[in-house]
Amino acid sequence: MKHASLLTLVAAALSVASLRIAALSVAALSLGSAGAAPISYTLPDETAAFKAGPNLEVVQNNCTACHSADYVSTQPRGLKFKKDFWQAEVTKMIKVYGAPIADADVPKIVEYLAATY
Ligand code: HEC
Repeated sequence: MKHASLLTLVAAALSVASLRIAALSVAALSLGSAGAAPISYTLPDETAAFKAGPNLEVVQNNCTACHSADYVSTQPRGLKFKKDFWQAEVTKMIKVYGAPIADADVPKIVEYLAATY
């Protein structure tokens, strides 16, 4: 019994909250159309870009189609995560995920990744 009434309370609180949100967005919409002056703002710097390094363009051409550079920058660091590690990663992208990377580009990409990350 206790549980049931608690659930009802939570449900009631939630619906009040969503009504408020709806009311707020209606208010925001009407504010937006009242003043038609153009808004200009500056975008923040790109945070998910590949770092500068040897063969950066090769990496940009081959490693940005499916996911962001965050996938690279969030990998573990240290001596164990250098050439062999990146060679295996690039091979996995090609063999497992079907990345269309030319054979000649593979060593350039591995060199970049080992030197830069
Ligand atoms: C054809 C699409 C595709 C391309 C191109 C691609 N990747 Fe991936 N990558 C994936 C997928 C899919 C995953 C796994 C995503 C997940 O698990 O959420 C992944 C994951 C990763 C990860 C995370 C670790 C892991 O093994 O899952 C790294 C690092 C990575 N990719 C690096 C690269 C690099 C470097 C390149 C360029 C050589 C590249 N990717 C190009 C599809 C791609």
